[in-house]
Amino acid sequence: MVVSSAPGKVYLFGEHAVVYGEPAVPCAIELRARVAVEARDDDRIRVHAEDLSLNGFTVEYSDESDDAPDVDVSESLVRAGIEYIDAAVEQAREAAGRPDAGFDITIESEIPLGAGLGSSAAVTVAGIDAGTRELGVELPPEEIADRAYRAELEVQDGEASRADTFCSATGGAVRVEGDDCRAIDAPDLPFVIGFDGGAGDTGRLVAGVRALREEYDFAADTVAGIGDLVRSGEDALAAGDLDELGELMDFNHGLLEALGVSSRSLDAMVWAARDAGALGAKLTGAGGGGCIVALDPTDRTETALTFTPGCEDAFRAELDTDGVRVEDEEDVR
Ligand code: PMV
Repeated sequence: MVVSSAPGKVYLFGEHAVVYGEPAVPCAIELRARVAVEARDDDRIRVHAEDLSLNGFTVEYSDESDDAPDVDVSESLVRAGIEYIDAAVEQAREAAGRPDAGFDITIESEIPLGAGLGSSAAVTVAGIDAGTRELGVELPPEEIADRAYRAELEVQDGEASRADTFCSATGGAVRVEGDDCRAIDAPDLPFVIGFDGGAGDTGRLVAGVRALREEYDFAADTVAGIGDLVRSGEDALAAGDLDELGELMDFNHGLLEALGVSSRSLDAMVWAARDAGALGAKLTGAGGGGCIVALDPTDRTETALTFTPGCEDAFRAELDTDGVRVEDEEDVR
């Protein structure tokens, strides 16, 4: 058996604008998905998943059965999770030249599903790494990132950026501009995350920004302004200037809000973080619901978020400089 893990991510800057060729800076966070893979004697796939959200649920799934999974989150989220695993298995089989390999797979994830923290990318990246290693093949992180991207493209009907999968495979802070993905230097980033318990509809939110951008020149300028902001953010990251990073996060949230992708609960969490003294705060990912990310080296933002109506979970998640890695078997039950 091989156990691999891969981190989730937040967008420090640049979501939505990245769709139009502007740069974005996602950062890996110390919340991981762990995937254990054991080769079987036959060509079947059996998946056992636990704790796929912060609240935890269990799903036992096997492609041998048509039973609906017994879970307390929407079945579509679970089905989507299983599609990522199937796509990861196909990539592992192809990379190892073993199209008929069967696996027993166990997944544990600390990353809430569908909330803008890259849960599907982390499961896909860790699954490809563990699957290929179990078949005796070791791929470099860049190839895992590329295969995970292709797996996401397949599941998401051709709509995926390389940001999540590259960031999860390599760890750290990353700069993504079109197909150009690279690691960038970053100081320790004291992230605090607030989660409203919900999820946004990425497709609808992206379409909304596209329509605004086509209708109004000033909306197109706003998207281009996010690109300029990201370039300033890269300089602040290189200089390790947390105060400026926070200021730019606040600005980035304002521009995303103007583009219509925030929500009442996301705004409430952003303001709670700012009032608590965070260096900056913004929504992360597609928006509409899900998570905000704040920068605060103290405990104050996490505490304030805990008491914010509409915030279901608040937790610290430092920048994770490790990408995909092999874990001890004991780490997955
Ligand atoms: O919510 P997430 O983590 O899937 O991020 C979506 C980011 C967008 O820029 C809105 C879309 C994209 O594919 O880049």
